[in-house]
Amino acid sequence: MSELFKKSLNKKNPIWLMRQAGRYLPEYQEVRKKQKNFINFCLDVNAATKVTLQPIQRYDLDAAIIFSDILVIPYALGQPVDFKKNEGPVLGDFELNTFKKTQDKEFIKKLKNVYLAIKKTRKLLNKRISLIGFAGSPWTILVYVLNRKSPKKNQVYKEVLKNTKQAKELLKIIEKFIYIHIEQQIKAGADTIQLFDSWAGLIEKKHLDFFCFQPTKRIVKKIKGKYPHIPIICFPKGIGKKVVEFCNIVKPDGLSIDSKIDVNLILKKIDKKIAIQGGMDPKYLNSKKKLMEKKIYFYLNKFKSRNYIFNLGHGVPKETSPKTVHKLVKVVRSFS
Ligand code: CP3
Repeated sequence: MSELFKKSLNKKNPIWLMRQAGRYLPEYQEVRKKQKNFINFCLDVNAATKVTLQPIQRYDLDAAIIFSDILVIPYALGQPVDFKKNEGPVLGDFELNTFKKTQDKEFIKKLKNVYLAIKKTRKLLNKRISLIGFAGSPWTILVYVLNRKSPKKNQVYKEVLKNTKQAKELLKIIEKFIYIHIEQQIKAGADTIQLFDSWAGLIEKKHLDFFCFQPTKRIVKKIKGKYPHIPIICFPKGIGKKVVEFCNIVKPDGLSIDSKIDVNLILKKIDKKIAIQGGMDPKYLNSKKKLMEKKIYFYLNKFKSRNYIFNLGHGVPKETSPKTVHKLVKVVRSFS
């Protein structure tokens, strides 16, 4: 089992943060400046390794997350992916036929530098620190493939419903390659996996089972079958009460929660075997220290009797002061 999960089983409140490597760190900005193209940055073994290790060198964290992006999957399936400043990701047109025809070997070759960066990072990383591999969940990848950028509410549905047959076909292909991508990350040395379903909250209730629960369940089941020692954390962001059904169906090892979720519902309805991760609204990183402390203690106290991994309800905002993250880690560490 990964160090991260061992610590959570021992009620030691391990901590890592989504987007712990990123724009709030000046040393990240230094590396970023030299990279024109974001996907090439993700595929630069030395740069990706360096940036993955930056937060670990600064803070006392229990896990590193490999520096990459969920959009390397559409990229490896032949869809152009670009990142525009202040706009986020912008994708080009996709070819269903290219998606269909992509061979496993070809896909793996395109992403081999992600796996090499994992291998390199693992070598440089202290054994007591976990290395998290990740992927987007099928729905969230489908959203980017069809919508070509981060969606506004409901806008994607039009795309999905316009051509349901195509959406279903795409979903199947995406699901297959997500599995392959995760498997390669495990083989390279990732000891924990996180699946990001950042846009699960856009799915209408009646479609949640088809677009979110079932595809995620199939991936989790397949990984568990082959790599039972690798814990999988799922982050179905924005689905509210439906996390209960999500957990009953998907059965992940860990559930990452967003800041809107009712923690009492989690305590009452989620199986104790499932570790709970995160929750605190990232906006408190930019509030008064006392208020941030209050919120940190709220989550630590609520989940005292559970296997809990401290994290946020979403990524570290880019305006965050690196000193604040230092304070946050200190507060979590001193809790007993
Ligand atoms: O430290 C880490 O968390 C590891 C690396 C990581 C990145 N993206 C690097 C990144 C991870 C785990 C992701 C996941 C990711 N990427 C998600 C799921 C999590 C979430 O945020 O909901 C999504 C939806 C994406 C797609 C994506 N990539 C967006 C929407 C953006 C732009 C907006 C933003 O938040 O910056 C990116 C770019 C990106 N990915 C950056 C980083 C550090 C910023 C790029 C830059 O330096 O300009």
